[in-house]
Amino acid sequence: MNDSERRSKTDGLRYQVRSFGCQMNVYDSERMSELLAAAGHRPAGDGDEVDLIVLNTCHIREKAAEKVYSEVGRIAAAARTREERGRGGTSRPLIAVAGCVAQAEGEEILRRAPAVDLVIGPQTYHRLADHLDRLLHARDRGERLRLVDTAFPAEDKFTQLPSRPTRVPLSAFLTVQEGCDKFCSFCVVPYTRGAEVSRPVSAVVEEAHRLVEAGAVEITLIGQNVNAYHGQAADGRQVTLAELIQLLAEIPALHRIRYTTSHPRDMSADLIAAHGAIPKLMPYLHLPIQSGSDRILKAMNRRHRAQDYLRIIEQLRNARPDIAISGDFIVGFPGETEEDFAATLALVRAVGYAQAYSFKYSPRPGTPAAEADNQVPEPVKAERLARLQALLAECQETFNQASIGRKVEVLLDRKGRHPGQWLGRTPHNQAIHVDLGTEPPFADERGGLVKVEIVKAGPHSVAGRPLLQTRDSRAA
Ligand code: 5AD
Ligand code: SF4
Repeated sequence: MNDSERRSKTDGLRYQVRSFGCQMNVYDSERMSELLAAAGHRPAGDGDEVDLIVLNTCHIREKAAEKVYSEVGRIAAAARTREERGRGGTSRPLIAVAGCVAQAEGEEILRRAPAVDLVIGPQTYHRLADHLDRLLHARDRGERLRLVDTAFPAEDKFTQLPSRPTRVPLSAFLTVQEGCDKFCSFCVVPYTRGAEVSRPVSAVVEEAHRLVEAGAVEITLIGQNVNAYHGQAADGRQVTLAELIQLLAEIPALHRIRYTTSHPRDMSADLIAAHGAIPKLMPYLHLPIQSGSDRILKAMNRRHRAQDYLRIIEQLRNARPDIAISGDFIVGFPGETEEDFAATLALVRAVGYAQAYSFKYSPRPGTPAAEADNQVPEPVKAERLARLQALLAECQETFNQASIGRKVEVLLDRKGRHPGQWLGRTPHNQAIHVDLGTEPPFADERGGLVKVEIVKAGPHSVAGRPLLQTRDSRAA
């Protein structure tokens, strides 16, 4: 029996869960980590030898699968080197590939990556610990078992997961909705995450209470299509995202609520109104449009026009004048002309984004746009991306500059590089750093909410000066 085997028999495996994707990928990684801990394993500390590595993968853009294979190759090579150095027995860690690449590639991963032991999809990871037990039992018998579980099971994985731990970050994620029925022609999500499903209201509210009891002061509700949320209430009624936010806003110790990611078609009137009516709902919205050209929006199957989007932004600003808008853009979608691209630049100027993400179109296997024969050449994509990103950077800096002098409550949840410096986010989701000196005004060593005045602005972040706090506000 080698060290790793002995350890797994006594105090469980030392594991590492590595996240490679979006906020939902990060949330899933947290839940996998929690369930491994609940099953008697423990997170590997710095410098520890690792017995189990879970790679939680993302498939949305670019050669995601290739990256997984090379990462697995690196892990296996490192294990071989350790073996050759004679650290006793075989210390090869178990390797699990989870997430959307696992879902899309399935069995193929076992064929191409001999070092992988388990392939587990986003809808089945609640079975991770059970699969691990089977792998370990086989190993006890001197056999090597390899498993693939990428089903879309009938049971709700959330009801099978252990409840949230007693300590969570000040800013926590909560999945309320998963999957997507929109089928944008460039996107793999409807295939990897499956059809749209909303969690029941009681499950979401309970998890929110747990998170707040465990220290969260901010919750971001996440879903691939979060504003399509339509969870069942106990009386069988369907509850909208706006109604759900209102329910959560009633939790006294929860100070901030956000949600992401939304589709313009589901930006309903009650959700827009919620931005004006619910003070705990932060004045920030990530609302991707992808392109400013109606021709391209149609080819993308977005099912709305640029002017519909601009109208929504106008309504949002009527409800909440200072709302910060963020978005996603794809350049070089098949058939995109210079004129189409100019429409995207014009839309960016019209909206005045506070921040945004932009990507070169990447053909995803199995999606309709990948089959199109009018693909845009790589150098054209690269050149358009550079122009768009320069404009977006300008918009972001303008937004940051305009916030100088604003007095806001910020959530500081990380220590900065300099002594006394703390980092966090403004209500408008700007990255902020604040010098709090030697006596931070919060009791929790993880950080807290502090009133500041924004005094400086740069392209990517702003700086704040703490405003005087009374003893009472410290306790709050
Ligand atoms: N190519 C480039 N970007 C993509 N996105 C989704 N699919 C693709 C693709 N095939 C981007 C979209 C989406 C964000 C999460 O990723 O902008 O909003
Ligand atoms: Fe993908 Fe479109 Fe669904 Fe967003 S709305 S997850 S881009 S298919």
